[in-house]
Amino acid sequence: PPLDEILNLHDFETIAKEVMAPKAWAYYSSAADDEITHRENHTAYHRVWFRPRVMRDVSKVDFSTKILGQKSSMPLYITATALGKLGHPDGEVNLTRAAGKYGVIQMIPTLASCSFDEIMDAANPGQVQFMQLYVNNNKEITKRIVQHAEKRGIKGLFITVDAPQLGRREKDMRMKFEDNAQVQIGDSNVDRSQGAARAISSFIDPSLSWKDLPWFKSITKMPIILKGVQCWEDALLALESGCQGIVLSNHGGRQLSHSRSSIEVLVEVVSKFKEKNLWPCQNFEIYVDGGVRRATDVLKAIALGATAVGVGRAFLYAYSSYGQEGIDKALQILHDEMEMNMRLLGARTISEVVPEMVDATSLTSH
Ligand code: FNR
Repeated sequence: PPLDEILNLHDFETIAKEVMAPKAWAYYSSAADDEITHRENHTAYHRVWFRPRVMRDVSKVDFSTKILGQKSSMPLYITATALGKLGHPDGEVNLTRAAGKYGVIQMIPTLASCSFDEIMDAANPGQVQFMQLYVNNNKEITKRIVQHAEKRGIKGLFITVDAPQLGRREKDMRMKFEDNAQVQIGDSNVDRSQGAARAISSFIDPSLSWKDLPWFKSITKMPIILKGVQCWEDALLALESGCQGIVLSNHGGRQLSHSRSSIEVLVEVVSKFKEKNLWPCQNFEIYVDGGVRRATDVLKAIALGATAVGVGRAFLYAYSSYGQEGIDKALQILHDEMEMNMRLLGARTISEVVPEMVDATSLTSH
């Protein structure tokens, strides 16, 4: 269908399923085991309700914000997803260009299909980008990747901490990952018999621990954010270890099956931090990702204490179906939804999106 018939982010998923190569669809859409956490990521948002305010002169609303001190036109960013070229020949640069056009930030994955420099070169001058890091079991390689990223102007290093081993994604495993031709990921000597995810992940260091953080700080001045925290205890450790933030995430339901939704974890972390007089935090931001498909999801997360949310699959499906124009459209939809829902909520700026605007009591009582 023509792009102007797309009304929301769910529509892209429906179309992607029809038009994508089965192998690519399997890799993008799959999640761990019975995909319970993947579904829960989205449905958990349905248990948060709004308490809008009225009569607040919402003729003008402004939902621009800052993420790690960097300007963003919306409180969301494009999160890292591997193997962009499975969905579209231009791969990740689709995302880079759309992000530049709409003033949002892209997190570049370690396992991008385009090379890191290709992605950086596709950005506008001054366009802010973050980088996602899978820690290689060869420290020298990790150091080289990190320092090159810093040199090229990356503004935040998101270290993925929820993947010491890749989760079991059976949809993906049923597809033999034989055609690796379009995918540049360095190590060509990999086992391709168990799907795309297994094929590309063998280098990830499972020994990564809290003790490694000083080393990361010694090799870079970029802010360090841990991606994949799932409880308040680790959130606190991240804060105490001098990280600049965390992403509450279960990797889009692709790792530990039956992990809680990130929005539920957000409520836990913020209430624990409040209890310990650590909230609001200075120089420490909390992001969430997983299941975000509507601006109302974004606003719920912001009200509950997130600085921004990451969106993954929705953009993948958008460009797999329509190339860069699909992502442009997805960002335009989110922009329009943000504007409308800020008005209906009675918030003129992001700082006016406060905890009192949501009722999350049924979030944890399921
Ligand atoms: C991911 N994700 C991910 N995360 C990461 O740290 N490194 C990676 O290489 C990838 N790769 C990846 C591939 C695909 C196809 C998906 C769907 C996801 C996880 C991603 O950053 C994020 O946590 C989730 O995608 C968020 O959930 P939604 O928005 O996809 O529901």
